[in-house]
Amino acid sequence: MIIASGNDYREAARRRLPRFLFDYIDGGAYAEYTLKRNVADLSEVALRQRVLKDMSKLDLSTEIFGEKLSMPLALSPVGLTGMYARRGEVQAARAADKKGIPFTLSTVSVCPIEEVVPAINRPMWFQLYVLKDRGFMQNVLERAKAQGCTTLVFTVDMPVPGARYRDMHSGMSGPNAAMRRYLQAMTHPHWAYNVGLMGKPHDLGNISKYFGKAIGLEDYMGYLGENFDPSISWKDLQWIRDFWDGPMVIKGILDPKDAKDAVSFGADGIVVSNHGGRQLDGVLSTVRALPSIADAVKGDLKILVDSGVRNGLDVVRMLALGADLCMLGRAFVYALAAEGEAGVTNVLNLIEKEMKVAMTLTSSQSIKEINRECLVDFNQIESS
Ligand code: GLV
Repeated sequence: MIIASGNDYREAARRRLPRFLFDYIDGGAYAEYTLKRNVADLSEVALRQRVLKDMSKLDLSTEIFGEKLSMPLALSPVGLTGMYARRGEVQAARAADKKGIPFTLSTVSVCPIEEVVPAINRPMWFQLYVLKDRGFMQNVLERAKAQGCTTLVFTVDMPVPGARYRDMHSGMSGPNAAMRRYLQAMTHPHWAYNVGLMGKPHDLGNISKYFGKAIGLEDYMGYLGENFDPSISWKDLQWIRDFWDGPMVIKGILDPKDAKDAVSFGADGIVVSNHGGRQLDGVLSTVRALPSIADAVKGDLKILVDSGVRNGLDVVRMLALGADLCMLGRAFVYALAAEGEAGVTNVLNLIEKEMKVAMTLTSSQSIKEINRECLVDFNQIESS
């Protein structure tokens, strides 16, 4: 299949993957309203075209948490990335590393911290969930620290998992799930051989290391539901703040009041996120939530944003609305599923090229110059 844009990888991934894996990465919560709005609202943000300003020299580089980045992008933490390509977290991390941007390892990755870190040169970012087992949390933080991870991305929008209907239908969860997954694997021989057979072990690598035995994926969503902690509040985060001496980023902020609380708490950054439309369906798209959050806290901490970013134009739109950095989830996993590390590299190169075109035609020579002046009719997309 001919890949001309990052979007083409979605179709390539759909062909390559057993349905339960494609639907898990592609799907969202409930009616998937927010999932769709994330993309649709973002594409409606009109860029302001300006011309004849000598745009021969563009600088996409930026700095965040003391790190130099080749462009304002990081790979998001995505659970089970290692099911999408053989040892998928390692392959994606390598692509990010070579491109000069951070890779964030999910708590519920297949490859453990200790497998990914030695494969890259940049410091890895690590994402942590609030699990009931605080012993695990402490253990995994100690291991992340020992491996030289710098930035901790702490996800707070999953005290309970949102219902994902597609997962029930496709066999990620629901009745006879294991049998349905097996049958799907049999009809996708490329995946079955390369990942199903050669990509083992398939377990939750970080959690297995803590328990000293393989924690499998038989009932992944059930595991999340049972082990996530709905009692979490700001005061529970304090021991992590005390323990983690690197930058701490709170992921899952969608309201300016929570953003201000994150500043009071002493967070170094927030990720404006609705978890890719995978949690509470019906909440604002991130592009609509972002402007009022930026008005409330810009400059007090770093504003990262995800959910809906699919190309370089989207990155420029988010920066213009006040983000310091975008995070890319689904878009890199589609590419990883289709072509492994080379696919992720290609999608990052495409985003870079798209950003260059958008910067040239909005007359922004550097990342700092991307602001609301680059947009038309900004008021139309303001949420409040
Ligand atoms: C886990 O973070 C998920 O969204 O499935």
